[in-house]
Amino acid sequence: MEVTARAPGKIILAGEHAVVHGYTAVASSIDLYTVVSLRLRSDEDTVKLKLNDIGLDFSWSVGRIKEVLSHLGSPFSSTPTSCSLETIKSLATLVDEQSFPETKIGLASGVYAFLWLYTSILGFKPATVTVSSELPVGAGLGSSAAYCVSLSAALLALSDSVKLDVSQKGWSTFKETEAELVNKWAFEGEKIIHGRPSGVDNSVSTFGNVIKFKSGVMTRVDSNMPLKMLITNTKVGRDTKALVANVSARKSRHPDAMCSVLNAIEAISDEWSTIIQSHAVDDLYLSANEEKLGELMEMNQGLLLSIGVSHASIENVLQTSMKYKLASKLTGAGGGGCVLTLLPTRILFTVLLNLFIYASANSFITYD
Ligand code: MEV
Repeated sequence: MEVTARAPGKIILAGEHAVVHGYTAVASSIDLYTVVSLRLRSDEDTVKLKLNDIGLDFSWSVGRIKEVLSHLGSPFSSTPTSCSLETIKSLATLVDEQSFPETKIGLASGVYAFLWLYTSILGFKPATVTVSSELPVGAGLGSSAAYCVSLSAALLALSDSVKLDVSQKGWSTFKETEAELVNKWAFEGEKIIHGRPSGVDNSVSTFGNVIKFKSGVMTRVDSNMPLKMLITNTKVGRDTKALVANVSARKSRHPDAMCSVLNAIEAISDEWSTIIQSHAVDDLYLSANEEKLGELMEMNQGLLLSIGVSHASIENVLQTSMKYKLASKLTGAGGGGCVLTLLPTRILFTVLLNLFIYASANSFITYD
């Protein structure tokens, strides 16, 4: 029996970091996907994980997984449950036994998340799981959320609690309640990878389109604006968990100042969602709204700089886009990763602009 599930990456239009502290963020899914194929096996007694894009392969005997995690039962739970620190230590034992390359050690938590989701949802059934992704890892485009969502979806599709009809070429659409379950499990995986995520990344990856997210609650945003965003990857790697922890530490040191900054970010997110939901009456109205969104992006970026999550590589991209009077901001955790630049929707202008930016900025910016 085999099933394939895919989930999209995301960009955060406004409100990253603030959202971790209960303020509003606005996020959109993007057309880049992570795909998970899951094949249950009766010919082997192993659980195999193949992470194609990062060149990592793991294989555990079912007996060994049972031995290390036996105290938890099988499957551990039919409802999404958090992985305790104690259990993460057990999962680390299973990963350490697989001669994990030193240079990729930062990705180990993704393998713990796999083992937790796998054994919690499917128990100890032998299988081969293959993951392929179009998303750059750790670049702010939600690669870990797309991984957790597509993995949870594939596992739930073959679990006793959901049992999807996967007969149509292995693809199936989840009903709303099933999607909510996928989202909850994916959030548990995200917690293993990021420590204290807000849940915005897994929610937009599960439900797609544009969403508003505040204090764990998602609202769909019915966007009426044809937005065009240029995504520039600085290719500077960073650690979301550390950046989120640094912002929290700054908040404890300067509670009043940080509260004002986070409130200002929330006002930006609220205005973003109002503008993109408004109906454009003509081109003039549309470009006036694009101008407003550009200003909001500039203000959001300034506030992100003030809470310590920008980076020289991000500022470099901003300098270039400013030359062309374009607004940019970092997206996701910052500290490197990707930068969004709002492009005017008028087609001819956009094409010329893309060429211009590419020609003049290519010397120091790498485009993906
Ligand atoms: C990461 O894509 C967004 C952050 O706000 C973290 C989170 O919301 O979990 C930085």
